[in-house]
Parts: sequence; structure tokens; C-alpha cells
Amino acid sequence: MRPTAPAGACPRRGGTGGREGRRPPLRAPCSRRRRRRDDGCGPATTRGGDRPVTTLIICGAAGDLAGRYLLPALARLLAADALPDDLRVRGISREPLDTASFREHVRSSLAEHAADLPDGVAGALIGRCEYLSADVTDAGDLTEALTDATGPVIAYLALPPALFAPAISALAKAGLPADARVVVEKPFGQDQASARHLNELLAEVVAEPGVFRVDHFLAKQTVQNVLGLRFANRIFEPMWNSVHIDRVDIVWDETLALEGRAGYYDRSGALRDMIQNHLLQLLCLVAMEPPQTLGERDLRDRKVQLLRSVRGMTPEEAARRTVRARYTAGTSRGRPVPDYTAEPGVDPANGTETFAEVTLAIDNWRWAGVPFRLRSGKALGTARSEISVHFKPVPHLAFGQSQQAVANVLRLRLAPDRIDLLVNLNGEGDPFDLETAELGADLAPQELPAYSRLLLDVLEGDPSLTIRDDEAEESWRIVEPILAAWQDGAAPLLEYPAGSQGPNTA
Ligand code: BG6
Repeated sequence: MRPTAPAGACPRRGGTGGREGRRPPLRAPCSRRRRRRDDGCGPATTRGGDRPVTTLIICGAAGDLAGRYLLPALARLLAADALPDDLRVRGISREPLDTASFREHVRSSLAEHAADLPDGVAGALIGRCEYLSADVTDAGDLTEALTDATGPVIAYLALPPALFAPAISALAKAGLPADARVVVEKPFGQDQASARHLNELLAEVVAEPGVFRVDHFLAKQTVQNVLGLRFANRIFEPMWNSVHIDRVDIVWDETLALEGRAGYYDRSGALRDMIQNHLLQLLCLVAMEPPQTLGERDLRDRKVQLLRSVRGMTPEEAARRTVRARYTAGTSRGRPVPDYTAEPGVDPANGTETFAEVTLAIDNWRWAGVPFRLRSGKALGTARSEISVHFKPVPHLAFGQSQQAVANVLRLRLAPDRIDLLVNLNGEGDPFDLETAELGADLAPQELPAYSRLLLDVLEGDPSLTIRDDEAEESWRIVEPILAAWQDGAAPLLEYPAGSQGPNTA
């Protein structure tokens, strides 16, 4: 395998190119340009025609998500000359700030989370920011926020999930223009019914192509490389099925603990925070059928089709095929971590899990019988983010009984980005001795962070790498029975010390 383009290079490469061959990992965010979906359905996804967006309203602008991800992502787009010239950023939240103090907040967020920006970029972004202290659930306040927004508007709901529905209703009453785009963070709802309700509310505000249910994992380069690896190579796809693949692990182990996010996390837990969205999206890309193009309709049709094939668990299956746990006091990355229940803002009565593992079955011709294990946890001893595809052993080994061949494993490491393939080779010396070798390639670091890519897609009106309405509901169909079974005590809430490898049974 060859490494991708060297770090820093604009990743435009040779190959098929053009509309049919568009491949998200290869796109060049270093130049401002408009992309069209390429599934033959015309440019309907470009809301507001070709008029550049002039107003980005960030609801929840003083919050953690905006400070940690959105503002730095905007600054990096500005540095890459990828923001529309006239774009203004209008922050709104309940915090009693004014434009001057909000600009100070933007300055310190950029200093903390994007310290390496080129000279002048922070100041230029700050100059485009303004602030309105407002209640995002109040239609009158939002009407004021929309005043003098002349061109297409983006309303980014960087809010706690409980505020999505009232904020969307308030946007509808405030008369959000029909060509606006609404961005909704994850988790989209708390269960299937609430996701459906959110979809219904959104449909009253803007048409589906203007809705961006974002999942920043889809904007990660390595995640997008799953598509390249599977669908631009001849060698993997013929073996990508239950005949050759034994099992697939999708793992996102974090050393990070709660990081002061109890307000959100203690009502979500690992299953809703990571598996319902990020890891199910990875599952889709790994297991879906090849799409005709990478346009939004073809790609999202394939993902929904895959989700529909995932078997919903009975309570008995949930007891056998899931693990939930939470961390106790320990040491992670050399620092003491308190017991989860002692973290400020946590209510132990919520019984929130900080670790979840589910083993899913896919009921279709390609994958029948292949377990897909999805696992994610916080405050673990080692950070590990990878998709590993475990192949079956060879049917017959001609090297004699004294030799052993490992089963091949293809590992897509997602942070840092790397691909490894475990193979058996002839050993040194005696050619009939087998040795295991790992063929690997480091992938070039992502040119823009995931949130910048995600915002670029929203600015360009391209929802390909976001979640469609039916997809969001289908994901909850898979997760909801597990949540219900857990609620009924089907799987005990285990414990693991912070800094360990997780609960023993995982
Ligand atoms: C977020 C989750 O969506 O993704 C966090 O809410 C998690 O709990 C994070 O830590 C992981 O993504 P990244 O890109 O920061 O590694």
C-alpha cells in the first residue's frame, strides 16, 4: 500500500476525477469551490442557488462545542481562503455578553484550540463576529437574530439535545427563510419517537436538502478513506463478505474522561453519545453495498439499506451481546481521575454508562453470521480508534503441522491515520517457516479538521456526508431496544478503574 499525498500537499490526485469519480477524501478544501452532488439528480441540494451564505447564526455560541470546535474550524477555513467574503458570524446564547465581550471569548477560544493559526486570521475572524444575548427557544429573540440577514442563512444548533425541538419550533415561528440551512448536532433525539418528532419539526422549517444532521466522524479523512479502500480497489471487495470475513471490530477507546461535560453526558452515556451515531456511521461505511456514486442520494440510500438490515435485539440478546460499564477512580495519562459518580454535575441515580459494547448481527446475504462489535469507552488506559476486519483462516495450510498461520487482519487506524494489513510470509532462513508481517502505510494528516470540512459542506450546500431523516430514525431502531433492555436490568452496569482496559467481560 502506498501512503497518500505528503503532509501539507493539496490532496488533489490523479485518477478518475470528474463527477462520477468524486471521492470525498481527495477533495481539495484548500481552494474555494462549489461541489455538486453527482448522483444524477441535479443540483437540488445547493440551497439558495449559487448565492453564497452571508450569515452563520450559531445558537449556543458561548458553549463548549462552539468554543472548542466551531470557531477554530471557521478560523481554519478562513486561513484556507474557503469562507465566503461576506460571511458574518452571529453568535447567540443566553450568556449576558455583548459583541465586544463575545469577541474576547472568540479570541481566547482560538488561542486555546487553534494556537497555530497564521498571523492575522484570528483578528479577521473576530472582526466578522457579532453577538446577541437571546433565548434560542424564543421566537421573538430569533426574529431579532434574523434581522438584516440578506442572503442565505445557516442556523447552527450547537445546543444541548433537549433544546433542539424548542429551538426548531422557535426558528419556524421566527420566519426562517425557506432557503436557509439548519444544522443539528448529535445525538439527534433520545429515541426513535423523539427523532421522528424532530424530523417533523424540521420539515416545517426547511425542506430536507436544507437540513444537515451532522456527525463529524463522517468528515474525518480516515473514515472517508474506508470508501476509497473499499470501492477504488479490486482486491478487497470480492472478499468483503461472510465467506472470507470472520468478524469486524469498530473500536473508539478514549483516555479522556468526562472533561466537565456532565450536563450533556450524564443524560446520554456512551451508547447514545458514540454508538448510536458515530460508530453506526462507521458500520454503514464498512458494511454497506457499493453505491453507484458518492452523491448524497446514492450514498445515504446505501447507508439506510444497511441500517435496515441490522437485527434489533431482544432483551435476551441484549443481555448476551452487550456490555455496559462506568469508570471508577483511577489514573489515566498520569493524572488522577475521580470516580465517575464523583464528577461535578453527575447524578449517580441516572446510572449512566461511560463504556458500551454491542455486538450486532446483519441480516443480509453478504453478512449473515458475521458479528460486528462496536465498542467505545471513556477514561481507558489506551486510546484506540480503529476498524479491524478479521479474515477467516486459510482453508488448508500446506506448511506442515508445526507451522501456524495467523488469520489476516486489515486494520484501519483512525487516529492517527494508518492502514495495516497482517499477513503471513516465508520466514528468514528456512523458506518453509512462516512469519507474520504487518504491511502498513501512514496516511497524510488531515489538511483541515473534521469540523472545518463539515462546515465547508454546509456552506456549499452539500449534505452527502450528513445523516438523512430516515437514517436518523433507523439508527434509533437499532439502539432503542438495547436502551430499553438496559433500563430493565438486562445487562448489569459493570465498573472498571479509570486507566484500565475496560470491564473484564468486554
Ligand atoms: C463527540 C463525543 O461527538 O466525539 C465525545 O460527544 C467524544 O464524547 C468525541 O469524545 C470523539 O471525537 P473526536 O473527534 O474528538 O475524537
